[in-house]
Amino acid sequence: MKKHVVVTVVAGALMLGMTVVASAAKAPQKEYTGSESCKKCHAEEYKTWKESYHSKMVRKKDDGILKGVVEKWAADGPTKGNVTGKEFKLGDVEYVVGSKWKQRFLVKNDQTNGLQFLNKQYNSMSGKWENYGNKNDWGTICGTCHTTGYRIVEYDAKFGKHGRTVKDTFSEMNVGCEACHGPGAKHVKSKSKKDIFTFAGKSKAEQSKVCGYCHNRIENEKFATAQGNPREDLPAPKVGDTYKPGDDWTKWYPEHAVMPGIQPEDKVDADYTGDLKGLFIKDEKSKEMGTYDAAKHHQQYQEFLQSKHYKNDILSCTSCHGGLHGSKKAPAKDAKVSCASCHDASYTIEKYMPGTGKTADNLFVRAHTFNKKQTRPGGPTAKGEPVYNK
Ligand code: HEC
Ligand code: HEC
Ligand code: HEC
Ligand code: HEC
Ligand code: HEC
Ligand code: HEC
Repeated sequence: MKKHVVVTVVAGALMLGMTVVASAAKAPQKEYTGSESCKKCHAEEYKTWKESYHSKMVRKKDDGILKGVVEKWAADGPTKGNVTGKEFKLGDVEYVVGSKWKQRFLVKNDQTNGLQFLNKQYNSMSGKWENYGNKNDWGTICGTCHTTGYRIVEYDAKFGKHGRTVKDTFSEMNVGCEACHGPGAKHVKSKSKKDIFTFAGKSKAEQSKVCGYCHNRIENEKFATAQGNPREDLPAPKVGDTYKPGDDWTKWYPEHAVMPGIQPEDKVDADYTGDLKGLFIKDEKSKEMGTYDAAKHHQQYQEFLQSKHYKNDILSCTSCHGGLHGSKKAPAKDAKVSCASCHDASYTIEKYMPGTGKTADNLFVRAHTFNKKQTRPGGPTAKGEPVYNK
């Protein structure tokens, strides 16, 4: 890897007290072609994807802003950028992130030329504003899981194991087709199965791992964000590279990333700090069950690995969610109907998938530990469809 990293010393940089930047060769973006280019040949999959939340994660303000947000902005909405502390108005918002559970707002960050978040988020269920204080750039702390083809292009090696990300890029906002099927430029020309990642014929563990790349919570000290904090994602270890479905990301960063429940040495019931603090519920119930339900959101993979469904090779994420393209009517196949194909009617999601992973105030995502000793009542989960301003 080292051999490909060119150390560039900008003339006078050292004199000016600036840092040395290690950067890779320009990223080869042309392997990615974008979800729009799949449309003409896979109209049905395109349509179901377009209806799914994967395609709606990050949108231009006017395309995705919620009705309640616009109506309530003036009363007690966001006022300041989290990184720079500068004042912003509704008109300054460039992108909105999320909609089903909560919405966050992106504005310019003139310190990095990137984007930063505003100081409040909107809870889609309660319709209330909540404080939100993440002081990191959007690209360098959220980008990997909320875009497609994410890669670090330049980082500042002076920060040692916390080599700060200086410049990053991606092929498309949102979780596009190529996030799950891999780069598609070659396939678009060849139309061959060989040039695209397909779930058919893959082991259940391999299938789930594709989803697990984003549906997890980890801490990565190899690269820091532009603000110098440890990353919460797994960009490809080689600068300039990107994750592709089929890659075994669990083997990346053996010394640098904490992956609770994924790496055997990172126990689910250990005490972690920072963003990993309290990621699983560690009460008597968990000890009795021997499985630890998530206390925070986007940890479905880490919960699922603890279940018999996974351990005994019975299901993958895609067995229940598989028809992400499945039905014309529903954005993703109605996952809860899957239980009935193997269990009696007493196996309901209300009983076995309580809302435990907190995503906003008094709002939770459903547990994926599937344990027969489950008795938690669970908190409120999301209902209905978001109401957009448009
Ligand atoms: C010009 C038409 C065309 C375009 C554009 C195209 N595909 Fe395909 N795709 C095909 C054909 C034809 C097949 C079936 C190949 C076969 O059966 O050997 C296929 C097969 C696939 C499969 C595998 C299905 C299976 O049976 O295993 C996937 C996944 C896929 N395409 C995804 C994509 C994605 C993602 C894009 C956009 C990046 C895309 N395709 C763009 C024509 C196209
Ligand atoms: C979140 C991951 C994800 C995204 C995003 C995604 N797919 Fe898929 N796709 C899958 C899975 C999983 C399957 C296998 C379906 C199953 O298991 O029932 C699949 C199957 C397919 C197939 C093969 C048909 C089949 O039933 O095997 C094609 C073609 C395809 N997808 C194209 C696309 C296109 C085009 C897009 C974007 C418009 C897209 N996919 C976006 C996960 C995804
Ligand atoms: C590149 C990162 C990424 C990958 C890969 C990915 N997801 Fe997601 N997924 C997300 C994000 C981000 C959201 C939140 C979208 C939103 O609510 O706007 C999400 C949301 C979801 C949801 C909730 C949406 C709903 O309809 O309630 C399901 C279910 C889901 N993903 C399943 C899967 C499965 C199954 C796979 C693997 C086939 C997968 N995801 C792969 C990032 C990813
Ligand atoms: C390791 C991957 C990962 C990282 C890093 C990550 N997210 Fe997410 N995020 C997800 C997934 C997966 C979901 C959907 C599933 C869930 O929430 O349980 C999600 C959901 C969300 C939602 C709710 C979407 C909705 O429709 O309501 C918002 C908002 C969000 N993320 C914003 C962020 C922001 C802001 C950051 C950076 C500070 C970030 N995420 C970092 C994976 C990630
Ligand atoms: C493809 C068949 C299949 C589907 C679909 C399925 N299960 Fe299961 N499930 C099993 C099998 C088989 C076991 C027994 C695992 C064992 O003991 O090895 C099991 C076990 C369980 C257990 C008990 C685990 C334990 O602690 O012993 C729960 C709870 C459970 N499933 C809930 C669900 C729910 C809820 C759904 C739907 C969201 C679901 N299952 C969908 C096959 C399935
Ligand atoms: C046994 C079936 C089953 C398996 C396996 C499964 N899920 Fe789910 N998942 C569900 C059901 C059922 C729901 C709830 C849907 C609803 O509320 O109607 C759900 C909900 C979700 C949500 C949204 C959270 C919420 O509160 O609605 C995400 C994200 C998700 N699953 C991702 C995954 C990922 C990633 C995997 C693999 C690591 C996975 N699921 C494996 C059945 C399953």
